[in-house]
Amino acid sequence: INKIAVLTSGGDSPGMNAAIRAVVRNAAYSGLTCDGVYRGFQGLIENEFVELGPRDVKNTINRGGTFLKSARSKDFMNKEGRLKAFKNLKARHIDALVVIGGDGTFTGASVFSKEFDMPIIGIPGTIDNDINGTDYTIGYDTALNTVVEAIDKIRDTASSHDRLFLIEVMGRDAGDIALNSGIGAGAEEILIPEENLGIDRLIESLEKSRKTGKSSSIVVVSEGDQIGKNITNVAESIQENLPEYEVKVTVLGHIQRGGSPSCFDRVLASRLGVGAVDALLEGKSNIMVGIEHKKIVHVPFETAINIKKILDIDLIRVADIVSS
Ligand code: F6P
Repeated sequence: INKIAVLTSGGDSPGMNAAIRAVVRNAAYSGLTCDGVYRGFQGLIENEFVELGPRDVKNTINRGGTFLKSARSKDFMNKEGRLKAFKNLKARHIDALVVIGGDGTFTGASVFSKEFDMPIIGIPGTIDNDINGTDYTIGYDTALNTVVEAIDKIRDTASSHDRLFLIEVMGRDAGDIALNSGIGAGAEEILIPEENLGIDRLIESLEKSRKTGKSSSIVVVSEGDQIGKNITNVAESIQENLPEYEVKVTVLGHIQRGGSPSCFDRVLASRLGVGAVDALLEGKSNIMVGIEHKKIVHVPFETAINIKKILDIDLIRVADIVSS
């Protein structure tokens, strides 16, 4: 291969720029040329390419979001859209593609890579940490730190006013952000979709902790949990059952996706970006590069997408013990 292209797709995450930078620089280091594609798969279809050399990615390692922009492309779900994308790639003599994103991105990449003769390597970039086959995804660590910082601030008000805060965090269907930030921020309860505790048991547990002398409470709720999907009604019902608390809801929202990436995410993104180009040079295709036990691994897209990542059960036990 002589020329590659790199794009970011799906929800942005802090560290995506660092990954693009590493891809571009390893391409140049290895004697390849590299194009960037704007707006993910949509930009492939609409022919939005830009040549990227090592100097074009200066001052990007510290920046959140993605300077190549991102999109969730509907057109790429149709064969017609994908054919246009392939023709545009061929017209620019691009031999291989690196895609940075989450499971939606890998699903699109996997279909494309089988349909057309185009090697593709995926880099896991999502704050959710929900991709099977990698211990960490780019942006997760930064999001955790953002969430913990926000909860620390909310705790000041919770304890000053004896309030109970339900704090909704992102994660789509995965509880990693909630569980880890909940432990890190000292939450009384952590509600995750992998457990779905339910309202009755939540109220029971809050009553119990009230009796042990707690006057304020932080409950971290993952958006994918059944309570997360119905958080305002749940807050009202807790208020009725526990009138001694004043119940408040805070939805952290997209603040969790932004900001300058942590050092952990910058290093992870740099390793995975370099690893993706290395993988292409080794002749690999249709795989994600991930990190397991500190080592770069190659994981087939199917394994990354179709097998649900298992949550660390030991962490649930730790959360129960340290919140008692
Ligand atoms: O996948 C990342 C994520 O932030 C999820 O945690 C969340 O459910 C979703 O994206 C939100 O997507 P959007 O930014 O399109 O609303």
